[in-house]
Amino acid sequence: MCAKQVKKPGEVPTTGHEWDGIREYDNPMPRWWLWTFYLCIIWAFGYSIAYPAWPLISSATQGMLGETAAGDTRLAVAEEIKRFDDANAPIKAKLVAADLNAISTDPELDGYAKAAGSAVFKTWCAQCHGAGAAGNKGYPNLLDDDWLWGGTMEDIHATVTHGIRNTTDADARYSEMPKFGADGLLEKPQIEEVVEYVLQISGQEHDAAKATAGAVVFTDNCAACHAEDGTGDRAQGAPNLTDAVWLYGGDRATVTETVTNARFGVMPNWNARLTEDQIRAVSVYVHSLGGGE
Ligand code: HEC
Ligand code: HEC
Repeated sequence: MCAKQVKKPGEVPTTGHEWDGIREYDNPMPRWWLWTFYLCIIWAFGYSIAYPAWPLISSATQGMLGETAAGDTRLAVAEEIKRFDDANAPIKAKLVAADLNAISTDPELDGYAKAAGSAVFKTWCAQCHGAGAAGNKGYPNLLDDDWLWGGTMEDIHATVTHGIRNTTDADARYSEMPKFGADGLLEKPQIEEVVEYVLQISGQEHDAAKATAGAVVFTDNCAACHAEDGTGDRAQGAPNLTDAVWLYGGDRATVTETVTNARFGVMPNWNARLTEDQIRAVSVYVHSLGGGE
C-alpha cells in the first residue's frame, strides 16, 4: 500500500509506508534542527576552504589562511626552536665570553646559566649522576664538597669539557690505580693489611695489628697517589680515603675488591656533544649545587 494518505485537518499525514499494519507518520524535522544542519554544512564548506582539508595524492589542500598541514608541523617546530635560539643568542655569546669566575656576579647571566644548565643536566648527566646529582656507586655525588678532580669553576669546566679516562679526548683527565692483586704487585696478606689500614684511617672498626703493618704497605704503594695521610690528590683524581665519602664503597669487602682489581671510572668528553655555552651553563649549575669552591 503506497498511496500517500490524505491529511485530515489536525492530523499528521503518514508516508504511505505500511508494514504489517504499522504506518509511518511523516512528521517534518523541527525547524531549529534543520537550520543547525544547514549551518554546519556552510561552516564545513568555509572551513575546508580556509584550512588544509581535502587529501590530495601526497599532501592536502593548503587552505587560504596559511595554516601548515601535518607534514609541515616539524618545520614549524624547527622554526619555533630557532626563534628561541635566536632570542637567546646574545646571552649565550655573553656566557661564552665571560670570565668563568665572573658569571656568578652577573645576576642575569647567572640566572640564565643555572636554568639552562639544569636542563642540560637532566638531559645529559642525570643517567649517571642521578636526577638530583647525588650520584651512584662509581658515579660521584656532585652535591657535596668532596671532589675527586676539584670543585672550582675552572676544575669543573675542565672535567666536563674533556671528560675522564676516555679515549676520545687527548686532554681528558687521566690516572690509573694499579691492580695490586690481579697483577701480583702485592701478596694477599699485604692486601689484607693495607685494607685494615684504610679502615683505620677512615675511622672504622679494624684489626689493629694488621693495620700497623698495613701503614707501611700504604706508604710504599699508595701514598704516591692518595698522599701520605690518605687524604687523596686531586691532580690524579685519587679519592680521599680518610672521610666517610666513598665512590665505590668503604666496607672491608669493597676496599679489598678495589685494591685487588682497581677501578677505572670513565666519563665522556662533553665538548664533542655540547656547545661551549651548554658546557658553561651546566658547569655553573653543578658549581651552584652546594659543593662549588
Ligand atoms: C656515562 C656516565 C656519565 C655521564 C653521562 C656523566 N658523567 Fe660525570 N662522571 C662520571 C664518572 C664515572 C665520573 C667519575 C670518574 C672518576 O672516577 O674519576 C664522573 C665525574 C664527574 C665530575 C667530577 C667530580 C669530582 O668529584 O671531581 C663532574 C664535575 C662531572 N662528572 C660532571 C658531569 C656533568 C656536568 C655531566 C653532564 C654533562 C656528566 N658528568 C655526565 C660519569 C658520567
Ligand atoms: C697511581 C695512583 C694510585 C695508586 C698508587 C693507588 N691508588 Fe687507589 N685510587 C686511585 C684512583 C685514581 C682512584 C679512583 C678510581 C676511579 O675513580 O675510578 C683510586 C681509588 C681507590 C679507592 C676507592 C675509594 C672510594 O671512594 O671508593 C680505594 C679504597 C683505594 N684507591 C685504595 C688504594 C690503596 C689501598 C692503594 C695502595 C695499595 C692505592 N689505592 C694505590 C689511584 C691510586
